[in-house]
Amino acid sequence: MHNIMITRIKGTQDITFDNIGYWHYVEEAIRSISHRYSFTEIRTPIFEATELFKRSVGESTDVVQKEMYTFEDKGGRSITLRPEGTASVARAFIENSLVNLGAPIKLFYNGPMFRYEKPQAGRLRQFHQFGAEILGSESPLADFEIIEMANSFLKELKVSKTKLFINSIGCPKCREDYKTALRDYYRDKLPGMCTDCRRRFDTNVLRLLDCKIDKELAKKAPSILDYLDEDCRNHFEELQWYLEKADIEYEVDPLLVRGLDYYSRTAFEIRSSSLGSQDQIVGGGRYDGLVEYIGGNSCPAVGFAIGLERIVMLLKSEKVNVNVPKIPQVAILAFGREENIRGFDYSRRLRKMGISTYVDVMERNMRNKMKHAARIGAKISLIVGKEEIERDIVTVKIMSDGSQFQVDSDYMSDYVVDKLRDIS
Ligand code: HAM
Repeated sequence: MHNIMITRIKGTQDITFDNIGYWHYVEEAIRSISHRYSFTEIRTPIFEATELFKRSVGESTDVVQKEMYTFEDKGGRSITLRPEGTASVARAFIENSLVNLGAPIKLFYNGPMFRYEKPQAGRLRQFHQFGAEILGSESPLADFEIIEMANSFLKELKVSKTKLFINSIGCPKCREDYKTALRDYYRDKLPGMCTDCRRRFDTNVLRLLDCKIDKELAKKAPSILDYLDEDCRNHFEELQWYLEKADIEYEVDPLLVRGLDYYSRTAFEIRSSSLGSQDQIVGGGRYDGLVEYIGGNSCPAVGFAIGLERIVMLLKSEKVNVNVPKIPQVAILAFGREENIRGFDYSRRLRKMGISTYVDVMERNMRNKMKHAARIGAKISLIVGKEEIERDIVTVKIMSDGSQFQVDSDYMSDYVVDKLRDIS
């Protein structure tokens, strides 16, 4: 038998040394902002009954038709790896009777999602979303809070060059009239259009508006905004009033229809000019019918989700300083068994004080241990050899200039803390 190399699945990523600092920076910001906005974390399973996504995301959407990781488990059930988080949140909201806690319920989540898409920069098959949902409020104030929260999150991460686009796709009632108007507009143009558009004409005519191929036709199509009934129009105007008062810049984009079926009224996206073709970093909107559609009582809701891989790409391309603490601060280099025990004792004392301490667990000579400590970026090395044990001291080496000091064991931590302060 010979060794074979097993590689990761196409469209997935390993996040290692070079990148993990960005992820920590982003994840820290997610917790911190959600906490300050008083949103509670919800964790739902990564796989669900396939039916959940078919019903909520919609049978005719690309996600359900082409992109789901669906399989049969050993019990013959059809299971799908979640392609997004909103459907699961709505299901969990119903199943755990969260409505009893009193409306509205504000939830956030952060985790992996799966879509069988064609991988390219910023588009993966396993990607991560930070999402936030408000369930139980019909008010445009909830839409405003969701948009304002996504906006502050990006600001807080120091991501710039982003732009907010909003639209209202009306309620099912006014949307029917609009769909009829759209079909009337597209009917005779259909033979010259792409295959996706021809298929969507019957099943999901709104999506013709965001076809990447037949862009010019969409520009001249009737606008949804002319078809909104009075309630939907007022709702949309009130949202815009809030955005203006809060100085949040936006553009109304009547072609913005989103790729998932559960939306009603508000739909929005935040796009970045620092990314290539996958420029959408935030997507969201209102989904007033979803909870009822999957078996709950009628419950209006609104939310957003942000793609974290795209955020990390932005942080890199905009050269944002993510300011992740450098580890380790101290490396312990001991030589011999007694010395190792003493070294561990030092590491315990330093770690108790919150100092990142690396113990070299290789048995090798001073030169090699020192080379390794330099390579991993330790600021200080503590050397514990025979002489140090006999005299009850430790040798402290400042890695940046090579200077060495012999310090009484009892004063080791104070000394290291002082030196670390001097260095940084
Ligand atoms: P979405 O627009 O499908 O909305 O996805 C939201 C974000 O996830 C996108 O803006 C993008 O940043 C990221 N994303 C989507 N697909 C990929 C991919 N293949 N690779 C990398 N990143 C990706 C939703 O999922 C809705 N659940 C949002 C929502 C929450 N609506 C209401 N509440």
